[in-house]
Amino acid sequence: MKYYQKLQVKELPEIQKEVLDFIDNNIEITDSEIDMAKNSSHGSFCRALPKIEDFPTLNNWLMPRLKMPLQYVNILFIPPETKFQIHLDGDDDISQKVVINVPIKNYEHATTHWFDHEDIKKDDVFKVFCKNDKPPLYGYNISFVNDDVSINPIASVTADTVTLMRGDTYHGVTNNSTEMRIVLIIRAGLDEGLTNFEFEELLEFKDLI
Ligand SMILES: [Fe+2]
Repeated sequence: MKYYQKLQVKELPEIQKEVLDFIDNNIEITDSEIDMAKNSSHGSFCRALPKIEDFPTLNNWLMPRLKMPLQYVNILFIPPETKFQIHLDGDDDISQKVVINVPIKNYEHATTHWFDHEDIKKDDVFKVFCKNDKPPLYGYNISFVNDDVSINPIASVTADTVTLMRGDTYHGVTNNSTEMRIVLIIRAGLDEGLTNFEFEELLEFKDLI
C-alpha cells in the first residue's frame, strides 16, 4: 500500500506566490484563532480558497490533470509546534480517501506519519464531526485516536513538494516549525468519500518523485 506519492511540479513556486499574495490581501488571522488551534487535537484552522480560476497557475496545473470532480480547496494554517493527533479522515463508513497536499510556506519541518490499523484498538478511538459549508454532507467525521496511545509509524513523509496522501489510513502530523505552516488541501471525488480510489484514479499519474 502506498501512503503517499510526491509529485514534481515545476510551477510550485508560482503557485505558492499566488496563494501567499491572496492570503496577504484577504485573510485576517486572530490570536484567539491561533490559540484555539494550538489547544485542539487537530492543531490547525482553515479558510476556503475561493474560485480556483482566480489562481491561474494552480488552475492550469491542476484541472487538466484531475480525473475526478474538484470538491474544494482549503488553505490550512498550522501554528508553530503543534500536532495533528492520529486520526482517520472519516470513519468506517465514509472516509475522505485521498487528498492533494500543496505546501505553501514553512513546510520543511513537518512530518506526516501513517499507522497500522491493527495497532489501534476500537476503545481508543473517538469521533468528532467536523462541520464545513460544503454540500451535500456539510462536514464529515474525524476518527481520533486517544492522545496517550503510543504506536510506531509504518510510513512517514515531509511533504515538501506537491504530495498525494491517503486519508483513509490512520495518520498524524507533527509540526516542529517555529513559524506558521501553510498548506493547501485539495479534495476531489465523485460522492464525498463513499467510493474508495487510488492515487492513479485521482490525478494523471506522471511527474512522480
Ligand atoms: Fe487527515
